[in-house]
Amino acid sequence: LQFTVVVPAAGVGKRMAADRPKQYLTIDGKTVLEHTLDKLISHPNIQHIVVAVHPQDPYFDGLPCRQQPWLTRVDGGDERADSVLAGLNMLAQQQQPDWVLVHDAARPCVSHSEISQLLALAEHQGQGGLLACPVRDTMKRANKDQPSLIDKTVDRDGLWHALTPQFFPFSALRTALSNALQAKIAITDEASAMEWAGHPVQLVESSDKNIKITRPDDLALAAFYLSLENL
Ligand code: C5P
Repeated sequence: LQFTVVVPAAGVGKRMAADRPKQYLTIDGKTVLEHTLDKLISHPNIQHIVVAVHPQDPYFDGLPCRQQPWLTRVDGGDERADSVLAGLNMLAQQQQPDWVLVHDAARPCVSHSEISQLLALAEHQGQGGLLACPVRDTMKRANKDQPSLIDKTVDRDGLWHALTPQFFPFSALRTALSNALQAKIAITDEASAMEWAGHPVQLVESSDKNIKITRPDDLALAAFYLSLENL
């Protein structure tokens, strides 16, 4: 089976405080976005990628892979969820796929075997899910009025970090995301919208190398993880 990926890449990367969005910073001479796209398209079950970029993005059209037939550009939106929905709406006009993957542009270190495990959900469970890893540290809930004071310790048993890719039946995800946005629900990943709409969502355990590049040190860490793949 062949699948399509929507890659939200329309963020401005404020926490990176760099001269350009983090997806256009380079690791070994190649942008983070290209590392991510290469990782995805080289997977044997991925055939097409829709990338949501900022409408005034000056970098995307200059990428060497820009003219590849497997790549489609769409204008992203104000929030990540708007960007993902823009990608899904574009796909609704073109392909109407049964299932869709969504993967952050800023996660180049995901592995092919993790993607394969996630894709197996379609066949074996018939329901969607996401890559996730269990939290390791003790978790604290801060006081709302005094954010530097602890209110309580949250039981970390059963707590997971939600990563990407996330993988869902296409129409159900498009409907859930669009309804959740209209209802002004805080949506920071696709699973949030699916949970809100009452769909079951599977956790698929991922390695914690699948980091989201967010702060300056993450670039060096991602470079290290990517270099391990070539050993
Ligand atoms: O900002 P954050 O790290 O959560 O962004 C996750 C992904 O969502 C990034 O790849 C970013 O480019 C993308 N994004 C987007 N549209 C936005 C905000 C973020 O496509 N409006």
